[in-house]
Amino acid sequence: MKTALVNLFRATFGRAPEIMARAPGRIEFIGNHTDYNGGTVLGAAIDRGVWVAVAPREDGQRRFASDQRAGVVAVSWGNLDKRSGAESWVNYPLGVVAALPAFGLRAPAGFDYLAMSDLPTGAGLSSSAAIELASGLAFLAMTRQEPSRETLVKVGQHAENQFVGVPCGILDQGVSGFGRKDHLVFIDCRGPTFATVPLPAGAHFWIFNTHTKHALVDGLYAARHRECMAAAQTLGVGQLVDVSPAEVWAAEARLSPGAFKRARHIVEEIARVTATQDALRAGDLAAVGNLLTASHRSSQTLFENSTAELDFLVETLGATPHVFGARLTGGGFGGAVMALTSAKFGAAQADAVAAAYAVKFGARPDVLHTQTGDGAALVAV
Ligand code: GLA
Repeated sequence: MKTALVNLFRATFGRAPEIMARAPGRIEFIGNHTDYNGGTVLGAAIDRGVWVAVAPREDGQRRFASDQRAGVVAVSWGNLDKRSGAESWVNYPLGVVAALPAFGLRAPAGFDYLAMSDLPTGAGLSSSAAIELASGLAFLAMTRQEPSRETLVKVGQHAENQFVGVPCGILDQGVSGFGRKDHLVFIDCRGPTFATVPLPAGAHFWIFNTHTKHALVDGLYAARHRECMAAAQTLGVGQLVDVSPAEVWAAEARLSPGAFKRARHIVEEIARVTATQDALRAGDLAAVGNLLTASHRSSQTLFENSTAELDFLVETLGATPHVFGARLTGGGFGGAVMALTSAKFGAAQADAVAAAYAVKFGARPDVLHTQTGDGAALVAV
């Protein structure tokens, strides 16, 4: 990847890059939509991600290229307008440029910029957080600033919330920033505070990307966000993390049926994250798997962010030997299912699941056997 990045940078800009950075994609392990409710969540950085190479320019122009799109997008200095259409991918790095001053950091002046990815986009693996963090690291190195990792993570989230316009929580950027091979990242989103948790030996991840995406996915995510905030307000708290499952049940009559279901999902999911930590500590992958599947059921019936395609994969995987558990990973409304398996689950089993899916839905999901990986870092040029 590194050689390809340097070669494409040279081919695009006619010179060598001066700084390079890489940030991983992530799996949401458990904790669905808990992050913006102040709850807890476990994720894993994976061994695929986004690479960014930059070199400063004297004329103040910011020139963006990507291996996923033809051409160069030139943005004149001082122009921080959102891009649209085929150029909208530039909103991630441009959003980072725009976010830096909000954290007392200097934005880079002109530069040539290239992004490359070996992370499937639209698969629920958060390529957007990966490009934000890799861009942030590269820009900060270019301007010789070294804020904390936590600040880098918050810059990425700020870019996503304020510039791209998605009201996401801290999960994606937090995991991409704090990931560690053979570990999960635990985030208490209220702080936020970040920690790593060892993953028991023998745990394997398989991703089944359905390539389906609800046409209204961004609007539906924002709608769930609003519903949770409204439920918290009815319950008299700032965030749903501040109520217990018993309190939600006691307030059933005061909540609309929809708000009751959303609130139940959040508080019960937070309890499942705690139970998962205990099961991980005990090395009990079967118990962890059951919690993952229970999380999916809750997304399906209470948070209502699953789809027929995701449900089918979770069912089919649940009936397949050597699978501990499976659930949708990420925002939902399409995207991907993650399965936690033993080493005995292999390509043949994954292929059978994909074939069954193809019979029902007419297209095969992409299958990815992925490993955990390290968090965002500069790469030696
Ligand atoms: C998306 C968001 C995250 C989180 C998940 C759902 O991935 O970007 O912040 O809310 O959905 O848990």
